[in-house]
Amino acid sequence: MGCGPSNEGGKLGSNGMNGSLSDPPPLPPTDPRLPLTARQKFSLEKSWKAVQRNAETVGSETLLRMFRMDPSVQDLFHDFKGKNEEELRGMFSFETQSTLMINVFDEVVEKLDDMDSVINLLQKTAEKHRQMGISADVLRKIEEPFMISLKNCLGDRYTEKIEEIYITFTKLVMDIMCQAIEDGS
Ligand code: HEM
Repeated sequence: MGCGPSNEGGKLGSNGMNGSLSDPPPLPPTDPRLPLTARQKFSLEKSWKAVQRNAETVGSETLLRMFRMDPSVQDLFHDFKGKNEEELRGMFSFETQSTLMINVFDEVVEKLDDMDSVINLLQKTAEKHRQMGISADVLRKIEEPFMISLKNCLGDRYTEKIEEIYITFTKLVMDIMCQAIEDGS
């Protein structure tokens, strides 16, 4: 299942004329703490629009896949303990949880020009998890199901280039959160 039709796969860097006359205009360099080139950041921001339109699905599929891969993680959410997938899908608190999680990724994408804010947001989010007793190792369990949900969402638009960008992006988010958990422990 993909994210629906979109024109977002178009060529980047057009100078606005048919058949480019020169190289695409240079983009401002990214913050050295962001391990993406300006072009990769641009591609991520574009691609993320398709994820945004399906944020709830990406969030809930990520959580459900993570619970399937490791049912012990489901038990960390008191409301979700002992519930099957169908029950989870029908729960308002499950929908809320999916949205809260995906909104953090969304805010990170929005704030890529302001790495201080990104780091602050992720450290605060990580600290809440640390206080709930969630270790960095447990937090990392979201990484693989999240990547699979992105791939399913983007369908044909999940090219090798985009995959590389999402791997780097997800790793960045998890590294900052996990580091904050370890530093706070
Ligand atoms: C294995 C991974 C994770 C586990 C086990 C986990 C677990 C939890 C739990 C138990 C809660 C509290 C739910 C409640 O109050 O009923 C929570 C809240 C939350 N989680 Fe996670 N989480 C994980 C990953 C993430 C990630 C990767 C993000 C964001 C990038 C995230 C964002 C949030 C947010 C924003 C809240 C709400 C915090 C608040 O109350 O202000 N979680 N999480």
